[in-house]
Amino acid sequence: MEYLLDTANLEEIKYFNEKFPIVGVTTNPTIIANEKGDYKKIINSILEIIGTEKMLHVQVLGRDAETIIKEAGLLKETLKGNLYIKIPVSDEGLKAMAVLKKKGFNITATGILTSQQIVFAAQAGADYMAPYVNRADNIGGDGVRVVSEAYEILSRNKDNKAKILGASYKNVKQVHDSILAGAEAVTVGSDVLKQMIYHPYTDWSIDKFESDWGKVYGNGKNLLDIL
Ligand code: E4P
Repeated sequence: MEYLLDTANLEEIKYFNEKFPIVGVTTNPTIIANEKGDYKKIINSILEIIGTEKMLHVQVLGRDAETIIKEAGLLKETLKGNLYIKIPVSDEGLKAMAVLKKKGFNITATGILTSQQIVFAAQAGADYMAPYVNRADNIGGDGVRVVSEAYEILSRNKDNKAKILGASYKNVKQVHDSILAGAEAVTVGSDVLKQMIYHPYTDWSIDKFESDWGKVYGNGKNLLDIL
């Protein structure tokens, strides 16, 4: 299972990169624009934090294959990292994916709302396909079902290596259900990612361990004081 962080906020990236077992960061034009800074500076700062092994997914803006291919080339030339080029699924996007795959680029298909878009992107050469689970739910669709149907179809091809990267989450249930439905990777914003491991009874248990221990061995003491 792969967990990625869906933000371009440097403080959040520092925090989760240090404390959570994330394997990369995903961005899109909206996420980067939210930070209101110099584009190159933001991307390079993210790479400085996560290093060159963890994945960084960066999206193109071009609408036609030619521009997308040129943007991807420039990104690869200027950024030193484990880069995945995010390309929205469209006819031109699929064309660009096929060309870039042959040239050895890592590709993430994005902007996905249906299971067929996932399957087509996989056929075109995408490494990851990112269905927007919450956006599908928002318009009366079923984001988790998009994941499960695509997973079922992709699983018929035993050689398939392309992974579903669930995206656009607003709560833990959407993430958890996507994982059960077949998403091998998920990208999650900081708020929801924090909630993934939160349980009030866990916090209560930690407090109780400390106070029970303290009653016998001294409040505020830990094993460093005893061993
Ligand atoms: C992933 O990288 C997507 O771009 C992102 O999860 C979209 O999320 P949103 O629907 O919350 O904007």
